[in-house]
Amino acid sequence: MNNDLNIDLMDPEVQKCPYDAYASLRRECPVYQMPSTGQYVVSTYLELREVLRRPDVFSNQMPLKNRRPGGPNLDVAAIYRDEGWEPTTTLQRTDPPDHQRYRQYIDRTFTASRVRRLASYIDGVANDLIDTFIDEGQVEFVADFAVQLPCLVIADQFGVTREDAPKLKYWSDAAMEAIGLMISPEREIECARIAVEAQHYFAAQFEARQKNPLDDMMSDMVRPAEDGSDPMSMQELLDMMSQLLNGGNQTTTSSLAIGLKLLIDHPDQMTSLRDDPTLMGNFIEEVLRLETPVQGLFRVVTQDTVLGGTDIPEGAVVMLLYGSANRDEDKFDHEADFDIHRRNAGAHLAFGAGTHFCPGAMLARQEMASSFKAIFSRLGNIQFADGLNSFDYPPSLVHRNLKDLHLTFDKEAN
Ligand code: HEM
Repeated sequence: MNNDLNIDLMDPEVQKCPYDAYASLRRECPVYQMPSTGQYVVSTYLELREVLRRPDVFSNQMPLKNRRPGGPNLDVAAIYRDEGWEPTTTLQRTDPPDHQRYRQYIDRTFTASRVRRLASYIDGVANDLIDTFIDEGQVEFVADFAVQLPCLVIADQFGVTREDAPKLKYWSDAAMEAIGLMISPEREIECARIAVEAQHYFAAQFEARQKNPLDDMMSDMVRPAEDGSDPMSMQELLDMMSQLLNGGNQTTTSSLAIGLKLLIDHPDQMTSLRDDPTLMGNFIEEVLRLETPVQGLFRVVTQDTVLGGTDIPEGAVVMLLYGSANRDEDKFDHEADFDIHRRNAGAHLAFGAGTHFCPGAMLARQEMASSFKAIFSRLGNIQFADGLNSFDYPPSLVHRNLKDLHLTFDKEAN
């Protein structure tokens, strides 16, 4: 442990671009107890992979009091209790063997063959979105494409009408703000009220499908489980729903927007990719590696343990820095460079590893592939719009998202 380091990942200046702080942590103290919160921050590839492979020691089942530095906001807890459904622990907030009970509902939805069958439909969604702005010769790409695409795809998969799709985005943004832990207690209360509004909407949808199942994901979730376990309660269904909604939206939005920004910053690589579509898969992995959408998540330690030479006591909270592990110089040469030819780009941990490996990974990759294919086939000479871009990343300990991306382009691919 290096006690001379004083790094606070919650510092707004660090949040603007955390990569220098991550590099110091990797170099000086791969498992670092952050003075401001007491949490242990894991920043290197090997140590992070070790944590992900030991769910018995590094547990997802975190008592509510540990999730937020300073303890839970009691007013928020009261809103859920009195006006909606109290948060419970399903899927990502459980460990084996309980985890499998929840995971089976998701795994039967996101099979490889189902995602493959969705490919031409997702191509269509991408092209429809481009139709909405192509005649303008300019676009704010985050709002008009990168946010829209995952939201429309997940709305269609859930079985939510297109009319209601914008609500999903509104609900998921509020949830992400709360999860990011960088907001005031007052805003936390507003976010809880928005979450309760979402709960009532989905509860009505689930009740309708319990009576009349349809061919959609919400119906899959109320169908009996293969292992004969009890059907999920409404509280469990709502908790699962919020994880699916939140897991798939801002993450994919981030990779679409930052992926396009990286290509504009590296025109030679944009040309290579346009000329050789077989590079698409590796390009996608490199974007996920270099600008990891989920920068950090948490675990709680179930017994005294040692990680990377640091003693960690039972009950301590560990912060997993996926965004740093994916830039670990011991794993990735020239780690800060964007290189769509990188040999081991796919070794990143952007989707996690082991028990909680992202079930939406295939869907997210397909959404990226369909989007960039449509963009390259329809738009040429894509450039940043003069003077309009801030290139800001809103503060969050968990997510990395580009605030906006104003572009100009030619109406024909070149
Ligand atoms: C680029 C896009 C995405 C990224 C980077 C991403 C990242 C991740 C990561 C890092 C985890 C593991 C969390 C852990 O270690 O505890 C995870 C889990 C999860 N993701 Fe994703 N995700 C993406 C897209 C999606 C999509 C499209 C969906 C669904 C529509 C989704 C749903 C979930 C769910 C439900 C979990 C929890 C799984 C479990 O605990 O078993 N994600 N994701």
